[in-house]
Amino acid sequence: MSTPAALITGGTSGIGKAAAEALHGRGYWVAVTGQREESVARARKELPEDILVLRADARSLADTDRVMSEVRDRFGTLTTLLLNAGISRPGTLATYDEAAFDDVFTVNTKGAFFTLVKALPLLSDGASVIVTTGIGVTRGLTGNSLTAGSRGALLTMIPTLALELAPRRIRVNAISPGFTDTPMVRSTSGLGPDQIDALAAMNPFGRLGRPEDIAETVAFLASDGAAYITGQEIVVAGGAGLAV
Ligand SMILES: NC(=O)c1ccc[n+]([C@@H]2O[C@H](COP(=O)([O-])OP(=O)(O)OC[C@H]3O[C@@H](n4cnc5c(N)ncnc54)[C@H](OP(=O)(O)O)[C@@H]3O)[C@@H](O)[C@H]2O)c1
Repeated sequence: MSTPAALITGGTSGIGKAAAEALHGRGYWVAVTGQREESVARARKELPEDILVLRADARSLADTDRVMSEVRDRFGTLTTLLLNAGISRPGTLATYDEAAFDDVFTVNTKGAFFTLVKALPLLSDGASVIVTTGIGVTRGLTGNSLTAGSRGALLTMIPTLALELAPRRIRVNAISPGFTDTPMVRSTSGLGPDQIDALAAMNPFGRLGRPEDIAETVAFLASDGAAYITGQEIVVAGGAGLAV
């Protein structure tokens, strides 16, 4: 059997980086993308050296074309695509401006959509496409409207994309993390350490998610064990959001 190969956007940090490590540990060839020079340099140091770390901006279709060309040269085909690159810009109706709206939707929604478009010729029959969405998509959280909307747009596409790609047995599923302890939550969520501790205490399991919790679900959806699962959302949140 040939070696499975995965492309993970936003794989230089947090959830994407943990997913890269989980798949690499299971014998995958892995490529990750990140946008900032420092995060790419750090990932090159911290990830196993045979993981391909590419600097590419999810907003740029030219960058996405370049990623596909490098992945094609290195791996030939892709068996797993994790559409994970994302940003969070906390704000409210009173504070958001047009630039924030465009930024969030361009990275989170347009970036993911066109990465899938450009990856299609590389995806092998039976491949697994996984989109990181979030429980904030279907639950309210003050300050989260743009992030929720941008990932929510992707969540609403999942059933249709799954049907469109079913003739090739390509599965399309979403993973919705709850609050997960990553650089995004620690530095760009607008939450202070006390608020983060309070969120952890409110969780039925008494803790935030760990990037590894999400990475294990990515590994499952990428595996043959999930060969008959498509068009679904798996919430990985320790029971957050269940209480009335
Ligand atoms: N953490 C949570 O609680 C949580 C909950 C629900 C959903 N999510 C979603 O999970 C995904 C991963 O989040 P995370 O918490 O792991 O955040 P993170 O640690 O900040 O990682 C985000 C990743 O996306 C990359 N990225 C950001 N903008 C990009 C761009 N324009 N082009 C290419 N890559 C870009 C980052 O690279 P650079 O550092 O180089 O920019 C980084 O690799 C996001 O889509 C997020 O919305 C997270």
